[in-house]
Amino acid sequence: MNRWTPLAVLVTTLAIGAVLMTTTELPTSQAEDPKPEYVGVKACKACHFKQHKTFLKTKLAKSYEHLKPGVSAERKKASGLDVDKDYTKDPKCLKCHTTAYGEHSGFPALVEGKEWTKEEKARAELHAGVNCEACHGPHSLVIPHKKKHKDYKRADIVKLGAFAPTKPENCDHCHVKECPTMPEDYTFSFEETKMSDKLHAHKKLKKEH
Ligand code: HEC
Ligand code: HEC
Ligand code: HEC
Ligand code: HEC
Repeated sequence: MNRWTPLAVLVTTLAIGAVLMTTTELPTSQAEDPKPEYVGVKACKACHFKQHKTFLKTKLAKSYEHLKPGVSAERKKASGLDVDKDYTKDPKCLKCHTTAYGEHSGFPALVEGKEWTKEEKARAELHAGVNCEACHGPHSLVIPHKKKHKDYKRADIVKLGAFAPTKPENCDHCHVKECPTMPEDYTFSFEETKMSDKLHAHKKLKKEH
């Protein structure tokens, strides 16, 4: 045996190890790529106190409440809706009056004849109403990224789940004439509403990303 043999054995072992790792581990690591999840309004409070506080007072935050019997009675009456009906049981209404309806970590879909699990009930509470992430995208991966990268780039947070904050496409699917309370000639302007206090109070960003 010459003195290089142990090294050769080590190198060969490492090479075989590397081949095994790429062949056996790649598919699983791809399957386990973390998916962005919806985390709810409270998760934003610590860093966006002002937006959080003012948002909670808006109609957007109460848009799920408005589906309940007796609530928003005038608007319902004027639109020919049944004031006593519980529209929180109507998926057609929930798709716009909740956050991420039917998505894997959003407001759970209603399925005929199936009760929600405990986990789904908790999720329903978290995502009732048109909340932060309905407009800004799921934040489970964005928040840790922002904590680590004070000088984060917008393109990176978009890759991690944030909707390009914020474009008309993030609003248009809900702001179309589909709600029974909307007038026939309903129109929506992103440019006119994007800085409105009806969303939340706005604060100028400290820096460009
Ligand atoms: C750990 C702190 C932290 C948390 C938690 C956090 N953010 Fe942020 N976010 C920031 C910082 C820092 C900025 C940049 C602020 C600035 O430039 O003035 C920012 C900016 C933003 C912006 C502006 C767009 C941009 O350029 O990024 C939006 C929208 C936003 N956050 C949404 C949210 C939402 C929604 C949540 C909760 C789901 C949330 N953030 C939670 C730290 C946080
Ligand atoms: C998930 C669906 C959904 C998305 C996405 C959405 N909205 Fe809405 N929006 C609603 C609903 C539902 C209401 C009505 C709330 C209520 O009064 O019950 C509403 C109401 C509003 C109002 C009126 C609030 C008031 O006080 O009268 C404004 C302004 C608004 N949205 C702007 C936007 C903008 C800007 C975006 C995109 C950045 C957006 N919305 C995205 C569903 C949505
Ligand atoms: C395509 C999305 C969409 C669907 C579907 C939808 N809504 Fe809405 N709803 C909205 C938006 C957006 C507004 C706010 C409109 C405005 O600015 O006047 C709204 C407003 C309302 C309001 C007024 C709340 C208030 O501020 O007092 C009520 C009540 C309401 N919707 C009930 C319903 C019911 C009941 C259904 C199902 C039968 C339904 N909506 C389906 C998007 C939707
Ligand atoms: C209905 C849609 C909508 C909801 C709900 C919403 N936002 Fe926003 N948000 C916007 C829009 C539109 C802008 C302005 C984007 C732009 O500058 O073009 C904005 C801007 C921001 C900014 C940038 C700084 C500022 O104040 O303008 C932050 C931070 C932010 N939102 C956080 C939040 C948080 C936290 C919540 C929930 C507590 C929330 N947003 C709920 C639509 C929304």
